[in-house]
Amino acid sequence: MNKDFLQYQAQTSPYPLGMEVSHASGSYIYDTNGNAHLDFVAGVSACTLGHCHPEVVDAIKNQVEKYMHVMVYGEYSQSPATTYTKLLADNLPEPLEVTYLVNSGTEAIEGALKLARRYTGRSQIIAAKSAYHGNTMGSLSLMDFEERKSVFRPLLPDIYHIDFNNDKDLEKITNKTACVILETIQGGAGFILPKNDYLKKVKARCEEMGALLILDEIQPGFGRTGKLFAFEHFDCVPDILVIGKGMASGLPVGAFTASKEIMHTLSENPKMGHITTFGGNPVIAASSLATLNVLLNSNLIAETLRKETLFKSLLKHPKIKEIRGRGLMLALLMDTPETANELVLRAKEKNLILFWLLFENRAVRISPPLTISDKEIKEGCAIILALLNSM
Ligand SMILES: Cc1ncc(COP(=O)(O)O)c(C=O)c1O
Repeated sequence: MNKDFLQYQAQTSPYPLGMEVSHASGSYIYDTNGNAHLDFVAGVSACTLGHCHPEVVDAIKNQVEKYMHVMVYGEYSQSPATTYTKLLADNLPEPLEVTYLVNSGTEAIEGALKLARRYTGRSQIIAAKSAYHGNTMGSLSLMDFEERKSVFRPLLPDIYHIDFNNDKDLEKITNKTACVILETIQGGAGFILPKNDYLKKVKARCEEMGALLILDEIQPGFGRTGKLFAFEHFDCVPDILVIGKGMASGLPVGAFTASKEIMHTLSENPKMGHITTFGGNPVIAASSLATLNVLLNSNLIAETLRKETLFKSLLKHPKIKEIRGRGLMLALLMDTPETANELVLRAKEKNLILFWLLFENRAVRISPPLTISDKEIKEGCAIILALLNSM
């Protein structure tokens, strides 16, 4: 299978991990040779409830038997999407009430940027250095890594960058700014938390200048950090919340949420300011609804913080210099980039799935399903420690 994978499927890098997947269940992915791989990555924070959670699978099957796609987004009232967006609103603080469902994280970012420009009538966008918001043209324009984007220019104009956690830089937000977009917790940069009420200060400056604050919770959202959404840790409600990844526990999805007043502007002058064929797809909405119901009706979110403590107590080693992040969004900061790289590759041989971060080459990602058991955490950490001892 790998030969055809390399020949016929477009590749993202010269070195794909290339596991030949047979099936997956709970915290394990099984390869075609019958090996069980313990998953400490969860499809990069996407499989919130692990692989093929029975309630998610049942919801998908039930929906597939009823209908799959009947109309483009926004025309028909369909129970999975309607029930889901209402449940989301019930669990979000005011004024976050209305959700636009799309197909991926980056598409949700595009929608949020359009919404901010449309609502404010301004064009300037401020993003943080070392942020990652996706790979379509608008999201890519937000990135400050020239080597990753220069060959794709010209990109979106009127984008400026600030240092995350730098209060002084907030002066760059002015009455020309349409929006400031930040990851609530910076992911690719190395799982960096906002410090000293930073998000509150950004929000206050945005309010002063009439700009909107967009928080990208595509990675930390849906319980991963010990709250349903990470902004709840920092006492700061965004004007536009962007979500995705773990929302449907493994199906492609994204969404952005705002107040009725703000969101309304996308549907007039011009009407159809943002449209999509498959956004709000009933099968994906059913999966999102089942995921949210499991999260709300279990202690998985609270348990995330206890599991963070367990990881931190186990992963003590001279080569691990720091453990960053919150809940089950953790990054091991190794002594060198070489150690980080070798650990990920050698863990693969021991049937433990680890992964890198986009921009911080000393980091090793640990973002398992929230359903991971203590026993599985201990087994995986024992493999990591044994590998580090042998390196
Ligand atoms: C913070 C953040 N924003 C946006 C994205 C893009 O989401 P997607 O890959 O679904 O387009 C990601 C994906 O890694 C992300 O982590």
